[in-house]
Parts: sequence; C-alpha cells; structure tokens
Amino acid sequence: MSFKPFNPPSRTLMGPGPSDVHPQVLQALAKPTVGHLDPTFIAMMDEVKALLQYAFQTDNPFTIAVSAPGSAGMETCFVNLMEPGEKVIVCRNGVFGERMRQNVERLGGEAIVVDDAWGTPVSVDKVAAALQQHPDAKFLAFVHAETSTGALSDAKALCALAQQHECLSIVDAVTSLGGVELRVDDWGIDAIYSGSQKCLSCVPGISPVSFSPKAVAKLEARQTPVPSWFLDQTLVMGYWSGTGKRSYHHTAPVNSLYALHESLRLLHEEGLENAWARHDRMHQKLKAGLEKLGLRFVVEQAHRLPQLNAVYLPQGVDDAEVRGQLLNRFNLEIGAGLGDLAGKAWRIGLMGYAAREENVTLCLGALEEVLS
Ligand SMILES: Cc1ncc(COP(=O)(O)O)c(C=O)c1O
Repeated sequence: MSFKPFNPPSRTLMGPGPSDVHPQVLQALAKPTVGHLDPTFIAMMDEVKALLQYAFQTDNPFTIAVSAPGSAGMETCFVNLMEPGEKVIVCRNGVFGERMRQNVERLGGEAIVVDDAWGTPVSVDKVAAALQQHPDAKFLAFVHAETSTGALSDAKALCALAQQHECLSIVDAVTSLGGVELRVDDWGIDAIYSGSQKCLSCVPGISPVSFSPKAVAKLEARQTPVPSWFLDQTLVMGYWSGTGKRSYHHTAPVNSLYALHESLRLLHEEGLENAWARHDRMHQKLKAGLEKLGLRFVVEQAHRLPQLNAVYLPQGVDDAEVRGQLLNRFNLEIGAGLGDLAGKAWRIGLMGYAAREENVTLCLGALEEVLS
C-alpha cells in the first residue's frame, strides 16, 4: 500500500472556525523550524507577548499563548484559579457556557448557573441577582461571543458587576478577540482566553491567555496544587518570562507560534479598531444580502455578533443538502447549527481574513443559486 501526500482542497472557510488563514500566516508556518529555546525564537516569543497585550488591550505581564486550542485556554483559567469547593457563577446561553459549567464541576467547584435562552445575551440583571444571592461566589464566568448562537454579551457591564462583588471574572473571548471591541484592562477582566483560528486569521491550535495581577495573586495563594501538570501556569511562567530566564517546560509548537506572530503582526498593522470596523462593515453587507434572500437572523440586531451570523433555515430546505452543495460546487464552508439550533440554523462566519468583500459576494451568490 502506498500513501500520497495530502493535498487539501482550497476552501473558503465561512463557518464558526477555523476561518480563512491569511496567506502570509501560511507562509510564516512554512519557515524553517528552530529550537524552542533558540535565542531568536525567544525574542519572537517576547514579541508575541507584546502583540497579545495589544490585541487584548492589556498591560498584564501574564499574557501568553497556551500550546493547545481554545478549550485548553478555558481549562487553563479554571484549573489555575479555582480550588475545590469554591463557588462560580456560570452564565449559560449556549454550548460554551455549558462547557464552563462542566469544567467547574469536574474540578470540584460549585457552579451556580445563570441560564439565558439560546440566541440571547447573558442577562446582566440576572447576574446581578445571582451575585447578590451568593456573596461567597469567588468567580463570574461567561462567554463574550457565543459561537453556538451568534450572541454578544456585555462584557464591560458583567465585569463591572464582578468587581463590585469582589469576584474574579473569567471571560471566553475565543470568537470575540480581534472581531469586536474588547478591552481587558478598561473593563477589569481578570482571566481571559481566546483561540488562534477565529478572528486572528491564524491556524488552529493555540490559545492566547491573560491573567490580571489579581488573578495571578489568586493562583499564587492556592492551598491545593494545580490539578493539571501541563496547564499549571506556575510551571509555564518560567518558559514565557523575561530574557535569560527561560527554562524547558514543554516543546512549544514552534511553527504555529511563527504563524501566531505573523497574524498578530498583521492585526497590529491593520489596527485593532480598524479590524473591528471591518468585521462590522462585512456583517452589514452580508446581512443585507441574507435578508434579501428571505433569511431571518437568530439574534436580535442589538446583540448580534458581526463575525458569526446565525440565520434560520428557510422552511422545507434540507440543511445537509445545501451545505453539501456549497462545499462541493463552490468550495465554500458554512457552519451547521449546534445543540438547540442543530438542523434549524446555519452559522455563517466572517472571521479575520474571511471578513472580506469577495467572501461576502461568494457566499451570497452561492446561497442564492443553491436555494433557488
Ligand atoms: C466560544 C468558544 N469557546 C471555546 C471554544 C473551544 O475552542 P477550541 O475548539 O479551539 O478548543 C470555541 C470553539 O469554537 C468557542 O467558539
């Protein structure tokens, strides 16, 4: 038996992620691998840190890239900051809030769940009530941009509430980072994680994470050891901290970090606010076209994510058939509905390099043809 090299088709990725990777990021990925303690690589990691601080809008010294996807970023926050028996207010308005709850419970924490309907943002009023009812809660955890529904929650208001109640906030920014306004320091976010494969236009597999000094102090004051060796940030800090102090923890995904560096460099070159505005412009254009096709949005305009457009399937349309035709005839991937929205909605992503005029035009034209 012989095996041929794998030649993937050239798709346009307009689903919930991974999204289109910028060609310069793909080129960066193919550069020669160096040792992960090579001085040139360490200098590049310092730039990755600085660029992540820019993307997150934070001065947090503890800002790093976890060598694993967004789910590992989520676990990094819970395994390092929470201890068994601690109470966490967990907001659940889609798939990823539920995953946060599972993290809390698997680690022996007590999850106080604040539920909101799929397609709606986290209710600030309900969270305020939960915090009042549970003055012993140590954390407030929520998803800024719920990829399963396309709803954007008010991270600024939620983090302000957490601060009033002396809770640390844990924020999922996997889909929001680079796509919508996000200001870690101004909003007082304590722990945040993201993913490389969405609005950063990078390949999947890396999770940017940042902890505020308060979160780092909580980690340093733990009474119990961090229950994961790989994600224990007290061990990883030695790998990401200042020049000359690097020590081996694990073998970093060298080429993926080249890719992340290039994607963050491109974001910096474009300007964060320009990137947010571009996502919004492309969303407006896509929205006008989708509405012309008679498609109805799942989320109300005021809480809609520009980078994740969830629309209900028209009556009588076969979900898999349409997505199959888009893929096979147009090389275009859009996302299926998840959880409660499975078979009922499509999720059309406009994330990072995918948020471009030509993608919007391709998607609207292809959908029009397939639906007719
Ligand atoms: C909001 C949110 N959180 C967490 C994750 C998990 O990220 P990953 O699939 O990179 O592990 C995703 C992935 O789609 C997500 O959209």
